[in-house]
Amino acid sequence: MADTGKVLVIGANGQLGIELTDALIEIYGASQVIPSDITASDRENFVILDVLNVEQLRDIVRENGVTDVYLLAALLSARGEQNPMWAWKINMDGLLNVLELAREGIIRKIFWPSSIAVFGTTTPKVDTPQETIISPDTMYGITKLAGERLCAYYAKKFQVDVRSLRYPGLVGYRALPGGGTTDYAVDIYHKAVAGEIYRCFLSANTRLPFLYMPDAVRATLEIMQVPVSKISIRSSYNLAGFSCTPAEITSSIQQHISDFQIEYEPDFRQQIADSWPESINDKVARRDWGWQAQYTLPDMSREMIQCIREK
Ligand code: SER
Repeated sequence: MADTGKVLVIGANGQLGIELTDALIEIYGASQVIPSDITASDRENFVILDVLNVEQLRDIVRENGVTDVYLLAALLSARGEQNPMWAWKINMDGLLNVLELAREGIIRKIFWPSSIAVFGTTTPKVDTPQETIISPDTMYGITKLAGERLCAYYAKKFQVDVRSLRYPGLVGYRALPGGGTTDYAVDIYHKAVAGEIYRCFLSANTRLPFLYMPDAVRATLEIMQVPVSKISIRSSYNLAGFSCTPAEITSSIQQHISDFQIEYEPDFRQQIADSWPESINDKVARRDWGWQAQYTLPDMSREMIQCIREK
């Protein structure tokens, strides 16, 4: 794209980062994309970057002529409950460091993910609207809510072009997620293909919203490419794929692997899941930038099983 300088992905080794980095390389070319993370990788142009180190961040952005930043580094919900102060630090300071560079005019455009974790037990659970009661019960959710308000604040006060999506649980076959509550929906496929029983940390009928990775990557690319005039939400857009329970994923796996078995052993993550919506209304994203999910649960199961087998 003519008006885009280099693109920096922070958290490029994570579940979403791996796939989004590939998609960005596809669009902009490998020489234009700088993947970064706190752990090493042998990707081209990769840099080790701690998002808390603002000077290093500034140097990387300046030296490489970075204009667009995808800030994916974060502690997710379950890990956040185990270390709330660390979650606050990484999730908030990381975002502020990037927003500040944009306020100074060094970065032009930011993508920052929010989550269904901004919603809490008092939020309407079904078809949760864009604008509703937002009172998260987890530290992760609290950081996402504060982050959304910071994005809206920097956009309004300093004209920072920061764009955000409230991701539901993301499911992909290429990388294992780490430290989330929706992670079961990835782990379950790996166990099924390995011919093992899956011990699920959520109960059979816990319904949560999900998005299959190709849809999540496409949504991210779309919101970053849409003309600025179309963006009416500067906190974060609701985004929906489909909703399902562990029992429903199990049945859908059993269409392909008939002897697959699951056992339910809910742990502390059950309470986190119980505080989140069952389904999301994303009509504002559809209206503003034409969002439309493509994958359903049967599509996802078919592809997950096939791709994990091939791996
Ligand atoms: N997938 C995340 C988690 O489970 C929610 O954003 O923590």
